[in-house]
Amino acid sequence: MCLGVIVPIPSMKVVITGGGGFLGSQLAKRLLERGSLVGPSGEPEAVDSIVLFDASFGPLAEELAAAAGSTAPGTGQQGQTIDLTLLGGDMGDRDAVDAAIDRDDVAVFHLASMVSGECEERFDDALRANLDGGRHLLETLRRRSGRPRLVFASSVATYGGDDMPDRVGDATKRTPQTTYGMTKAILELMINDYSRKGFLDGRSARLPTVIVRPGKPNAAASSWASGMFREPLGGQPCRLPVHRDQCHPVIGYRDVVESFVALHDADPARLGDDRAYVLPSHRIAVAEGIAAMEQVAAEFGILPGLVLDEPDPAIQAIVDTWPTATDGSRALALGLPAPRPVAEILRDYLRDFVLED
Ligand SMILES: NC(=O)c1ccc[n+]([C@@H]2O[C@H](COP(=O)([O-])OP(=O)(O)OC[C@H]3O[C@@H](n4cnc5c(N)ncnc54)[C@H](O)[C@@H]3O)[C@@H](O)[C@H]2O)c1
Repeated sequence: MCLGVIVPIPSMKVVITGGGGFLGSQLAKRLLERGSLVGPSGEPEAVDSIVLFDASFGPLAEELAAAAGSTAPGTGQQGQTIDLTLLGGDMGDRDAVDAAIDRDDVAVFHLASMVSGECEERFDDALRANLDGGRHLLETLRRRSGRPRLVFASSVATYGGDDMPDRVGDATKRTPQTTYGMTKAILELMINDYSRKGFLDGRSARLPTVIVRPGKPNAAASSWASGMFREPLGGQPCRLPVHRDQCHPVIGYRDVVESFVALHDADPARLGDDRAYVLPSHRIAVAEGIAAMEQVAAEFGILPGLVLDEPDPAIQAIVDTWPTATDGSRALALGLPAPRPVAEILRDYLRDFVLED
């Protein structure tokens, strides 16, 4: 008789807060294809379930879920079944956050956030969703054993103020001039400190504006940065609230998703004491973006909608306070991807969101 010892194969649960939104659903899609992430041991581990935790779910997340209920099995690269669950809940509710993170072998991508325009309008809600919500998550993870990995979606809105240079990097002082940016900057610092204390293993990606957001415009003051591509490529007119020589730092959604994964998987020994990384981006003028859009529209046989100049002094005033370029050299040195060219991002967008319909 041969007595064997059954060695459990390590696997993990992934929780994506804000998984009902744009980047969360794209990240879930990528993880379903990939099927693994680096575990606390430093070795790749199979993902057995993905939970999208959100206050509301957009069509992208709903498309990911199977017609039968809210659970859609996917298959990872190792052929394993991965359960995908849409879990409704509010980051401001500590019990709901606890319920989502019910295992020690968990990795969390924290993307839930009110956007910039909403935070300026609703200060108290912004503190509850972004600050209290972030703190709930950190405390929940602190109480799990195994030092879970956490990736946080921060923003270049953490920069600002009179002394801000045009090109911002990880050594640039963060003096945010919006409530949204303030909440992001505080959470970055808390993640550094919780990591220093050994409560969890956190990392923050400071995102430039991500293009091209599908669907409808949102309440972000940067909404036009996707709209100037999305609307004309959909044959619709686009109302441009900023001037055409306005420069802006942009990155494609696929690069952001790959950056989240690479940051998650990075060896903690390489992170040092500042675990927040600004992502590299393209500095493009609006006019250059429109030219790239027209070139790609021609390649795909699309007659683009018109871009109409409708200056909005309130939006322009906010945009004037933003950096126009990022120095992502520290992120690149860690192994995060270099940003794809703008025309390539537009081709991805058409293939992923427009031509599939
Ligand atoms: N898209 C960009 O250009 C950009 C740029 C910089 C930073 N970011 C950050 O990246 C993350 C993802 O961005 P996105 O474009 O996918 O945004 P999104 O608005 O599409 O998704 C955010 C999700 O968070 C959810 N949410 C908000 N408050 C919540 C709460 N209290 N409880 C639970 N869920 C809540 C929303 O319902 C939404 O589905 C956000 O944290 C955002 O601040 C995005």
